[in-house]
Amino acid sequence: MNNLRRIGVYTSGGDAPGMNAAIRAVVRTAIFNNIKVTGIFRGYEGMIEGDFTEMVSRSVSSIIQKGGTILKSARCPEFRTKEGRQKAYENIRHAGIDALVAIGGDGTFTGAELFSQEFGIPVMCIPGTIDNDLYGSDYTLGFDTSNNTVIDAIDKIKDTAASHNRLFFVEVMGRDSGCIALNAGVAGGAEAIMLPEKETAIDELIDLLAVAKDKNKTSMIVIIAEGDKNGGAYNVAKHVKEKFDFYDTKVSILGHLQRGGSPSSFDRVLATRMGYFAVNELISGNKSATVGIRGSTIVSTSLEEALRSKELKLDEELVTISRVMNI
Ligand code: F6P
Repeated sequence: MNNLRRIGVYTSGGDAPGMNAAIRAVVRTAIFNNIKVTGIFRGYEGMIEGDFTEMVSRSVSSIIQKGGTILKSARCPEFRTKEGRQKAYENIRHAGIDALVAIGGDGTFTGAELFSQEFGIPVMCIPGTIDNDLYGSDYTLGFDTSNNTVIDAIDKIKDTAASHNRLFFVEVMGRDSGCIALNAGVAGGAEAIMLPEKETAIDELIDLLAVAKDKNKTSMIVIIAEGDKNGGAYNVAKHVKEKFDFYDTKVSILGHLQRGGSPSSFDRVLATRMGYFAVNELISGNKSATVGIRGSTIVSTSLEEALRSKELKLDEELVTISRVMNI
């Protein structure tokens, strides 16, 4: 029996391709179940300011293919204060919102759990971040699309590296996660991948590059996750060059282009499934959980478990495979 009359939906933290597809699925599943929807702009910032909009089925037409988020996103330090959350709650209550769907990363989830505990409002979270660093889902929204963007960039860099016999250091996003670097490094055929989870010393990297050089490789690509402990691509390139200067060395920081772009088919379908599942979980009475995909099944995990798990998401077997591919 559905006793929800109105759901609020918002996107928060770093945007990710697929967020719009998730918003669309939340709106249409809610309306299908005779639940009204309020769109909350700019995440917790807009919640505190009462920046709300009514959303109907037509509000989410032709957005499934769009990157970014039509509800915008923001990082909101004020929401970390009780006063900020109190203001947000008063706006939520004034708008007649019975439950929330939060689309974002770990900061979004942390805020949602606290808000739900303090004010007793049910919240379902959808993992929307390119970092793929959230427990409870094998894949987060945007990770697949971002990987395709990075692989496209690596392929282009490999063309010019081969033309000029150059060694390129390519820095990718992921905050403290090496998931983008590892997947894109394997898919892009990189000679070496530097991961925050695996403290690779510069000398170890040089040994890997020396082996590649001895095999007469005339150009090379090193993928460096931005969270790598050696201080980023420019720093790694500088230290490598000091001891291994057989190649003309260049650095490419891919930056925020990894966050944009039309979501892949995988991310569109995942987002649609997650949005549909999130609303149905709220209807069934789930009050504080994240949606996720395990294998090919959409599941929910309590925020209590998701936010306190120390499980590393890096695929250890893929790390091994990446090294074997560079024999
Ligand atoms: O969390 C997604 C992410 O793109 C990280 O990979 C990156 O470190 C961070 O956001 C960048 O944050 P901002 O867009 O605020 O600079």
